[in-house]
Formats: sequence, C-alpha cells, structure tokens
Amino acid sequence: MFRTKIAGIGHYVPERVVTNDDLARYMDTSDEWIQERTGIKERRYAMQHEETTSTMGAKAAKVAMERAGVTAEDIDFIIFATLSPDYYFPGCGVLLQRHLGCGEIGALDVRNQCSGFIYGLSIADQFIKTGMYKNILLVGAEMHSFGLDYSTRGRTVTVIFGDGAGAVVLQPAKEEKQGILSTHLHSNGKYAEELAFINPGAHGGVHAKNEEEFERFGYTKEHEYGGIFLTDKMWKDQDIFPNMTGQLVFKNAVKKMPEVVFEALKTNGYSPKDIDMLIPHQANLRISQFVQRLLKLRDDQVYNNIQKYGNTTAASIPIALSEAWEAGKVKDGDLVCLTAFGSGFTWASALMRW
Ligand code: UT7
Repeated sequence: MFRTKIAGIGHYVPERVVTNDDLARYMDTSDEWIQERTGIKERRYAMQHEETTSTMGAKAAKVAMERAGVTAEDIDFIIFATLSPDYYFPGCGVLLQRHLGCGEIGALDVRNQCSGFIYGLSIADQFIKTGMYKNILLVGAEMHSFGLDYSTRGRTVTVIFGDGAGAVVLQPAKEEKQGILSTHLHSNGKYAEELAFINPGAHGGVHAKNEEEFERFGYTKEHEYGGIFLTDKMWKDQDIFPNMTGQLVFKNAVKKMPEVVFEALKTNGYSPKDIDMLIPHQANLRISQFVQRLLKLRDDQVYNNIQKYGNTTAASIPIALSEAWEAGKVKDGDLVCLTAFGSGFTWASALMRW
C-alpha cells in the first residue's frame, strides 16, 4: 500500500488588511482586548462581489498544483473543506472544478469546520492508499467576512475570524518513509449549538421570499436581513450570525487538541520531543500556547500565524503549513503534526513524515 504525501502546497490571502482598530470603529472593542485575549493583530477580508470562498480556493490550488508539477487535467478528485461556501448548495467542490477546468471528476465538500482540512486529508489518504486516485486536490477556504455581525452584539465572534485559502495536492509517496502516518478523527454532537451558524437550515426557522409569504406562515412581525425574512425569535436569539460559547469552546480545545496529538504520537511510537513541527489550527494564540505547554514543545516546534490572519477555520492549517514550508521551517524528512478543534464539536490530528 502507498502512503500519501503532500506533493505541493500553496495558500492565498486577500490583499485587504483589516486591523483591530478598524473593527473598533464599528463595535465596542479595542486593539488591546483583541491582542491580549486572542493574539490577533489583523486579519484579511476578501473583496465582496469580486472574490468568494471558491475563487480564493482556486488561487491557492493553482499555487499547490504548480508546486506539485501537475495541471488541471491531472487532478482526479477534489475535496473542498469550508463552512462558508459560496452557495448553500451546490458545494464549493464543483465550483472549484469549474474554475480550474478539471475533467468531470468527483468533487466532495467536507463540512467539519475547523477540523475540515484534517478530515479532508484523512479522506484523501484512504483514496490514495487504496490506489483509487493519484492526484487529489484538497482545499480549505473561508470567506467569513461576509456573514459576521459587525455590531457590538457580535464582537466576541467577529473579531476572531478572517478570510483566506490553503490547498495541497496529494499523491502516492515514492519513498517508503515519506507521507501520512495516521489520521485521527473525533466528534461530539452534544455541543453542536455551542459554536454554530444555524440558518439557513431545516430546523424549523422560517425563510420567506417576501413579506407576503412571511405573513402566510402566520408571522405578523419580521425583520428583513439580507433578503431573508426572520422570525422575532431568530432575530432575538441571534440565529442569523455565527454564535459561540467562547469559554466552553476554549476549555474543550485545550483538552482535546493535546489529547489527539498524543493519540497520533502513540499510534506511531513517538513522543512530543520527536515532533519537528506542530501546526495547530489557528483559533486563538492562547489556545496554541496552552497546547504547546502541555506537550512541552519548544517555540521552534510550533508554527503560529493567527497574529496576521485571525482564525480562518478550514483554511488555517493549510495556510500555516504553506507559510512554514515557504520559510524553510518544514523540511524533507521532518515529523509534522497537525491538530484542530472546533464547531461540532469536532477535533482531529494527522502525523506525517514530510
Ligand atoms: O476555531 C473555532 C474554535 N474557536 C475557538 O477555539 C475560540 C475559543 N474561545 C476563545 O478564543 C475565547 O473564549 C474568546 C476570544 C472568544 C473570548 O475570550 P474570553 O477571554 O473567553 O472572553 P469572555 O467571552 O469571557 O469575555 C470577557 C469579557 C466580557 O465582558 P464582561 O462580562 O467581563 O464585562 C465580554 O463581554 O470581554 C468582553 N468581550 C469583549 N470586549 C472587547 C467579549 N468580546 C469582546 C471584544 N472586545 N471583542
């Protein structure tokens, strides 16, 4: 059986830089609070109506494909991880297939939020190991800026997130010792609503095309938001924006991320000191630092870039991995570990020999 290797990696972040002070113009927050609680200094926002999640994904994919030495015709499967797709359906996978001009290949969307990239990696690994596909394009991309609450009400969530995309081309490894050693996936749906964006969804909320239709549903008072009419309850409960119980997510993240790293290390007979580079999902610099301390890792064993980009969810790991690789911090033969925790809750890790 072949192991799966990352044959090419790339990332794209939009040009528009949004600082903490920029956000403080719209909501009651400050550069000091954001930096102290999250480590974030700035993030990137895509240009609305010019860029989307799938177009950013395509830009990252082109870099990864060029570095892997493959063209659109060579790609035999697409996996696209995102929680902010261009459309509610169809998914971004088919849009990427169209943007790149790939053949009529399979295109799969992965809905595992912060863990989406590692879930995608695990799926790709199974297809490569069995010999079914030889060039899988895996993309993690997000355009959060479109759906955030820029009033003070949304500040806890809004200040964290940013836009961007990362991509890898996965191929069978030629060298025996190279490639993905194992992936480890987990979930606990008990906490599904603790970090969620529950509309649109088939959970009983009402989406009406216009006021008349809305009234036919028996509602007399409504709010119009982005062309969707909302019930009072949806508005009151802030169901139209992502919501997060921050401290609960934080507590679980700092427990589950080290746990799942240990699971990967133990499976392969390694210990934390063997890790050359840990790329944690960039959720909060304090979370990464907690994980680093628990694993007793040196600073040079962990890569963080949340300071520049905020939390880009499914894109955060491939963007960080791509940057670390470009900076020469990930080299041939290195033991690289990826770990993520987020909405679902879902959490995951992957261990690979670069
Ligand atoms: O990637 C997906 C996974 N997501 C995560 O892992 C995120 C995990 N959670 C976190 O990173 C943190 O919980 C946050 C950064 C979201 C929040 O930090 P915190 O230290 O947990 O703050 P808090 O929610 O406990 O709020 C502390 C105070 C509150 O004020 P009071 O009640 O003490 O007066 C908040 O209202 O800070 C206030 N606050 C803010 N103040 C200024 C909350 N957000 C802001 C803000 N600016 N943006």
